[in-house]
Amino acid sequence: MSAFVINGGRRISGSLRVQGSKNSVLPILAATFLVCGKSIIHNCPTLSDTNSTIKILKNLGCSVIREGSTVIIDSSTAQGYEIPDDLMREMRSSVVFLGAIIGRMKKAVISSPGGCEIGLRPIDLHLYSMRQLGVNVNEDYGKLVCNVPEKLEGNRITFSFPSVGATENAILASVTAKGTTVIVNAAREPEIIDLCDFLNKCGAKISGAGETVITVEGVEVLRPCEHSVICDRIVTATYLIAGAVTGGDVSLENTNPVHLQAVLPLLEEAGCKVSVRCKTIRLKAPLRLNRIDKIITQPYPGFPTDAQAPFTALACVAKGTGVIVENIFESRFKHIPELIRMGASIKTEGRVAVVEGVERLYGAEVVSPDLRGGAALVLAGLTATGTTVVKNIKFIDRGYEDFVEKLTAIGADIERINIPDDDSVNNVG
Ligand code: EPZ
Repeated sequence: MSAFVINGGRRISGSLRVQGSKNSVLPILAATFLVCGKSIIHNCPTLSDTNSTIKILKNLGCSVIREGSTVIIDSSTAQGYEIPDDLMREMRSSVVFLGAIIGRMKKAVISSPGGCEIGLRPIDLHLYSMRQLGVNVNEDYGKLVCNVPEKLEGNRITFSFPSVGATENAILASVTAKGTTVIVNAAREPEIIDLCDFLNKCGAKISGAGETVITVEGVEVLRPCEHSVICDRIVTATYLIAGAVTGGDVSLENTNPVHLQAVLPLLEEAGCKVSVRCKTIRLKAPLRLNRIDKIITQPYPGFPTDAQAPFTALACVAKGTGVIVENIFESRFKHIPELIRMGASIKTEGRVAVVEGVERLYGAEVVSPDLRGGAALVLAGLTATGTTVVKNIKFIDRGYEDFVEKLTAIGADIERINIPDDDSVNNVG
């Protein structure tokens, strides 16, 4: 097992090009299964999640070649329609393949994705949207067996919650359905827009992406195309916070500041100078951060739940007390006990955390509870006095490409080490 060792207290400064978006490229890679031919996807980050997605595409019969950050997927002869249990367990967001497999094969067999570290992650909205389109969904003994008795028929799909993944599955299953599908209360995240941009380039007829109502006019065939994935807005926020918590000065390139419209003002409230020029965001931090009064996670365009843990690390060392409310996932505070081990002063009650900023944090041995919680512990280690060891970093490797190399390039003292498998560490899968 590997861990990060961080010697804190160094100023993070310099410039960095931000990776492509994990949460955009995963559904787009799934969408290439719908397209018969060779799709070329640029700006695809090398992550364990993208590696898992490529494994699934190969398992479905696609040939996949990676050339740096470009991935070429040829699905011409693909005939698969099952995702085996081990691959589903490797990455629960593989559920986004459901719509693409059904869209192409008119059947699918996947194991139920189950929950994960941040919550139960039910898929009732995904299955509701499939049934609305005429799919028979049988759930038995952990498997979802789906088939289309007649044909995929466009329909109205009204979500009780703007689920990102369910919106993606509804789009993927309806792009080649007969007739028109109207998705009401659709998720508005930039990753939805990027998926629809890709599909429209392939000949789909989707309108309203990024709004609460998306209309999909079914088409017969999708043609392969070339597409460059948007920048990762959560990774951008993470590196900005690395600068913020160390009194640093970071410039991030290849970003889309519009995607951070709910994040940048909070960094300014914390006393940072944030300037935007084209695709570059520059942050200059004060020696001591001001408190952020309230951080309340919401569906986009509200404050993103994925940035909650990194911002909690920032709140730990700000002057004063701030309140954090996590409205999206039911157990997304698991990084807090680990931050407290480093000297943070945080009280939680249900989905509310009250963070009383302290002068400094202290290095400690901590365990990454999930992807963004792990990133928060790295950020805390960057500002802490002394050495921090972050264990269970397989979670972090799911979403942060070349994390050590990139942080080192902007001044961090961080290295990846191997440590014996320690059964005292919570090895949540
Ligand atoms: C996507 O997850 C992202 N993952 C998550 O990022 C992100 O936190 C989330 O959207 C919200 O923005 C990917 O894109 C791969 P949801 P997803 O469906 O699609 C409930 C990260 O750190 N819900 O919008 O699973 C669900 O339980 C990850 O990069 C249902 O009740 O999110 C949750 O409370 C973590 N029934 C809420 O909706 C359903 O059928 C939001 O889930 C589906 C979801």
